[in-house]
Amino acid sequence: MISLTINGKTTRVDADPGTPLLWVLRDHLQLTGTKYGCGIAQCGACTVHLDGRAVRSCVTPVSMASGKHVTTIEGLAETALGKTVQSAWQEVDVPQCGYCQSGQIMAATALLKENPHPSESQISAAMDGILCRCGTYNRIRAAIQQAAEHQIIAESKGGAK
Ligand code: FES
Ligand code: FES
Repeated sequence: MISLTINGKTTRVDADPGTPLLWVLRDHLQLTGTKYGCGIAQCGACTVHLDGRAVRSCVTPVSMASGKHVTTIEGLAETALGKTVQSAWQEVDVPQCGYCQSGQIMAATALLKENPHPSESQISAAMDGILCRCGTYNRIRAAIQQAAEHQIIAESKGGAK
């Protein structure tokens, strides 16, 4: 049994330590917001946070997540920043088919957590490997910039990150 803390709740799963975190999330815990794309760390669809940092769950053994805080798209709105990013995504109307979008949002949130006011090139560098077959890249950038602006407004009003 492996003990995991996912979206603030501790749970135990009966999985081989080498099982990819993605499959534990989707198959053991029914957290299907995290998507399978390539399975080889090439597309970013499976991105989640481990202690706040973006990781590709398809190549992360579940044993590596033990003792860390895992956040998935289902738990993202529990933080002010997560809410801000999701609102910006809605305002800009980013998704097309939607398949890649949980990975995009998780990567964007990790970026804004580390760097609240990223430049265009920093956004490009952080989001570069997260593929979108529908080509929503321009709207993704716009939503990240909008979320950063919302953060500036929240900070000026004394809001928490
Ligand atoms: S499914 Fe993990 S990077 Fe593509
Ligand atoms: S919105 Fe369809 S793959 Fe990105």
